[in-house]
Amino acid sequence: MKPIKNKKRYLLLTIAIITIGWSTIMGSLTAKVMANPIGSKSVDKVADNYRVGKELYLENCSTCHIAIPPAVLPTETWKTILENPLNHYGTRLEGIIRFNQVLMWQYLSTYSRPISVNEREPKFIAQSRYFFALHPGVDLPSPVGHTSCVECHSRASEFDFRTLD
Ligand code: HEC
Ligand code: HEC
Repeated sequence: MKPIKNKKRYLLLTIAIITIGWSTIMGSLTAKVMANPIGSKSVDKVADNYRVGKELYLENCSTCHIAIPPAVLPTETWKTILENPLNHYGTRLEGIIRFNQVLMWQYLSTYSRPISVNEREPKFIAQSRYFFALHPGVDLPSPVGHTSCVECHSRASEFDFRTLD
C-alpha cells in the first residue's frame, strides 16, 4: 500500500471519529437540558447559542445555593469563580469538566457586564454595584447575600427574578 493513501485513510478515520464524538457529546447535553427541571421553568430566555451553557450553569451552580443571575456580578467575578473551582468561598467544586466550564463561561460572560478600569473585582453580591443598580430605591436587607434573595423573589430557587411576591 502506498503511504500517501494510508495517510488519506487515516485522515478520514480521524474526521469520522471527531464527528461521532461531537454528536455524542451534544446529544447527551441536549438530553440533560431536556431533563433539567429548573431550566424548563426559567423565565428569562437566552439565545440558542447559550442555552446549553445556561443549563450547565443551573446544573452545576444551584446545588449548594440558588443559581445567582449573571447580571448581578461583573464578568470578571464569573471568570475568577469558573477558573478556581477548588478554591470556592472556602469549599471545593469537584467534577466541573473543562468543556462544560467553557460553555458556562460563554453564557455567564454574555449575560454580565465587565467592570471599569481600576475598579476592584467584587467577590460577593454585597460588593457588586451591578446588584445595586438592578435595585434602585429598593429597601434591601443588610448584609445582602444569596440567602436573602428569596425574601422578595419568592421563585429565586427556580431562577425566576421577575416574579416579585
Ligand atoms: C459544593 C457547594 C457549592 C457549589 C456546587 C457551588 N457553590 Fe457557590 N458557594 C458555596 C459556598 C459555601 C459559598 C459561600 C456562601 C456564603 O458565604 O454564605 C458560595 C458562594 C458563592 C457566591 C457568592 C454569593 C454571595 O452571597 O455573594 C457566588 C457568586 C457563587 N458561590 C457562585 C457559584 C457558581 C458560579 C457555582 C458553579 C460553578 C457555584 N457557586 C457552585 C458553595 C457552592
Ligand atoms: C428587599 C427585596 C429584594 C431583595 C432582598 C432582592 N431583590 Fe432583586 N429585586 C427587587 C425588586 C423590587 C426588583 C425590581 C426593581 C426595579 O425594577 O426597579 C428586583 C430586581 C431584580 C433583578 C432584575 C430582574 C429583571 O429581570 O429585570 C434581579 C436579577 C434581581 N433582582 C436579583 C436579586 C438577587 C440575586 C437577590 C439576592 C442576592 C435579590 N435580587 C434580592 C427586590 C429585591
